[in-house]
Amino acid sequence: VVSVLKALPKESLSPEEVFKVLENYVLGDMDPYSGRMWGHIYNAGLDDLLDVARRAYLMFMDKTMLDFTTYPSILKMENDVVSITASLMNGDENVVGNFTYGGTESIMLAVKAARDLFRKKKGNATPEIILPSTAHPAFYKSAEFLGLRVVRTGVDPETFKADVDDVSEAIGKNTAIIVGSAPNYPFGVVDDIKGFGELAIDHDLWLHVDACLGGFVLPFFKKLGEKVPDFDFSVDGVSSISADLHKYGYAPRGASVILHRNKDLRINHIFVKASWPGYPLVNTAVLSTRSAGTLAASWAVLHYLGEQGYVRLAEKILRVKKRLMKELPSLGFKILGEPESGIMAFTSENVNVFRLSSLMTSKGWYVQAQPGSKLLNFPKSLHLTITPNHERVIDSFLQDLSSAMLEIQKTGKTEMNIEEVMKSLGLYESELGDLSGKLDSLLSILDLSEGETPGDMVVINELIHIMPPEMVELVFRSIINDILFKPTRV
Ligand SMILES: Cc1ncc(COP(=O)(O)O)c(C=O)c1O
Repeated sequence: VVSVLKALPKESLSPEEVFKVLENYVLGDMDPYSGRMWGHIYNAGLDDLLDVARRAYLMFMDKTMLDFTTYPSILKMENDVVSITASLMNGDENVVGNFTYGGTESIMLAVKAARDLFRKKKGNATPEIILPSTAHPAFYKSAEFLGLRVVRTGVDPETFKADVDDVSEAIGKNTAIIVGSAPNYPFGVVDDIKGFGELAIDHDLWLHVDACLGGFVLPFFKKLGEKVPDFDFSVDGVSSISADLHKYGYAPRGASVILHRNKDLRINHIFVKASWPGYPLVNTAVLSTRSAGTLAASWAVLHYLGEQGYVRLAEKILRVKKRLMKELPSLGFKILGEPESGIMAFTSENVNVFRLSSLMTSKGWYVQAQPGSKLLNFPKSLHLTITPNHERVIDSFLQDLSSAMLEIQKTGKTEMNIEEVMKSLGLYESELGDLSGKLDSLLSILDLSEGETPGDMVVINELIHIMPPEMVELVFRSIINDILFKPTRV
C-alpha cells in the first residue's frame, strides 16, 4: 500500500464532524484545568476568571497587532499592560516596554537590543552573553539566532543560585550582556540580582533579569511577607526585565512583556522598514501579525483580578508550597535549594525519580522529570510548578506520591542498567560526529513511533542524564526531524 499525505477533505465537514475528530484527538490529553498537572499550566482555578479571559480573547481574536494605526484600542491596551507590569517591577516613569507572545520572544528582544548597543559601542567584534548554567535555553536560542557567543558560568551546587564571582571572572572586553533569573525554572530560586547589578555598573554592561516566571508572583509573595531577594528595577544596574503574563499572570498562552529601563535601551529592539512599496512596517516584537486576543485577555485578567486578586492567589500557592516543603522531606525526599518562588524541585536517594514520575503519570498526574546531567553535575529531580488550582488536590497528590514511592520500593530495583546499554551500543566511546551509525540502535531501545508523542520516558531520561549534553542535542534533533514531526500519511 502506498501511503500519501493527508490532504484537505474534498468536501466540507459539518461542525459536528469537525469536533467529533478533535474530541477524539484529545482523548489522550491531560486536562489542564484538573489541577493534576504540576507543570506546563498556570491555572488560577477560577472559572469566572477563565470566562473573562475568553470573552476578551474572542472580542479581539480577529484584530491584528501588526499595524498600530489600525485599531486604537490595541495601542491603548498594550500601553496599559506594559505600565502595570513596569509598576509591579518597581519601574520609574522612564521605564518602557512592549507586549510579546512569550518569554522567549521577550528574551530575544532584550538580547537583540543588547547586541545592537554593543555594536554601536564596540563595532564588529562578536558579542558575548554570559549565562549561568540555570539560565533558560531561550537565551541560547537567542544567541544562536542573533550571533552571540555563549560563555557559561556555574551555579552553587547547594543553593542553585548563579555564582556571581564566576560571572565576574568571565566578563571580558566583548561581553555584551549578563543574565540573572528571578527565579530559574529548574529549582525556583532567585539569583543574586544585586550582585549582578554591581557587575553591570562596574563594567558598563547590559543586565537582563529573566522574571518570566517570577514577574507576576514574587511581588505578591513579598506583599505577604515572604523573603524575596530584590530582583527588579529597584536594583541599580538592571537594564531589562522579561515577565510572562501567560505564566503567573494567568493570561492565556501567547502573552509576555519586555521592559527596558529607558527608551534609549528599547530603541535597539525596534524594527522599522520603509524601503519597500508597501506600508512602512513597524515591529516592536519579533512576530509581526498576531491576534490581539491574548493582549486583550491579559488586559482583562489584570483588571479583573487586581492586586487583591493576585494576592489571594499567591496565598493559595504559598499554602500548597508550605505543605510540600513540610511533607516531601517527611516522605524521604530532598528539596533542592531553598525555592523563593512557586517553583520547586525535589529528588530522592531511595527511589528512581524518573520511575516515580512515570508511575505518577499512570495515576493521572503530570510531574515533570528533570534529567539533569551526570557530566555537568546536575542532579536528577522532579519539578513542581505550584498554582492556586493545586490547593484542592494537594491531599490526594501527596497520597498518590507516597503510595507510588512504596510501590517502587516494593518491586525492588528493576532498572535497566543504562550505562551497560550505552556501552553495548558503543555509545560511550563514540565521537559526537560519528553517531550516525549508532543512531538506529539507540532509537530502537527508545520505543518511538512516527508522528506520536513518546510514551514511557524512564529510559529516555536516564539516557539524557548520562550522555554528554552535546550528544543529547544531536540525538534529539534527529528524533524530532526523522521521527516525531512527520506529515500525517493515510
Ligand atoms: C525562567 C524562564 N524563562 C524563560 C522562559 C521561556 O518562556 P516561553 O516558554 O514563554 O517562551 C521560561 C519558560 O518556562 C522560563 O521558565
